[in-house]
Amino acid sequence: MPNTLLWADATADDLPLLQSLRFGNQPYELEISDWLSQDAGKFLGQNGNFIWAYFNRSGDCVGFTSLSTALWNLTGSGGCSALVDIMYIPALGIDKRFHSVGSGEIPFPDRYLGQMLNHVIQEATKRKRTRDKLGLLTHPDNGKAADIYQSKCGFEKLPLYYFVDSNPETPYFQWIRKI
Ligand SMILES: CC(C)(COP(=O)(O)OP(=O)(O)OC[C@H]1O[C@@H](n2cnc3c(N)ncnc32)[C@H](O)[C@@H]1OP(=O)(O)O)[C@@H](O)C(=O)NCCC(=O)NCCS
Repeated sequence: MPNTLLWADATADDLPLLQSLRFGNQPYELEISDWLSQDAGKFLGQNGNFIWAYFNRSGDCVGFTSLSTALWNLTGSGGCSALVDIMYIPALGIDKRFHSVGSGEIPFPDRYLGQMLNHVIQEATKRKRTRDKLGLLTHPDNGKAADIYQSKCGFEKLPLYYFVDSNPETPYFQWIRKI
């Protein structure tokens, strides 16, 4: 199965390898590189946070996923009681060299991203405890990622926007699915 990815738990020692990945030059692609260079070290220093690196059979690092938890307001109503404890994917990406590998030939679940998402969803399910939802954000210009999460992975868009500290002007879409 030449297309089957292997994965490894990333530690701080693996960050230089992940930081060498290139996701593209759009702002929403560059922010994934920024996350790896500016936030991932601190992220890995906190219990319950994970980054996985994925390798193809030639030993190339193809991409990464990450997993954490978050408190999200799922309804838009006020007050702390509206906050729900969820599993959360802060960032993921595939190196530009490996975008769309197998597109049109290999079914999505067997493609690189399909395998990576399947793995991170399994990890989220394994670690969820009482949490029954998995969330992630997309930049409003990242129509491709939004399309994938909605049409391939069962995520639904919340009727709310999320504002992140690193990009306070931008209303991110919030996506959620059951686990
Ligand atoms: C988002 C990302 C992980 C997708 O991986 P990929 O290998 O490029 O994905 P593919 O090209 O195989 O596309 C998979 C699906 O995306 C959708 N898609 C592809 N191109 C698209 C486009 N231009 N617009 C909308 N949807 C598109 C299709 O549903 C496609 O499935 P199909 O080929 O069966 O029709 C990758 O492009 C990436 O790492 N981007 C930069 C970082 C990033 O955006 N991370 C996500 C942050 S939330």
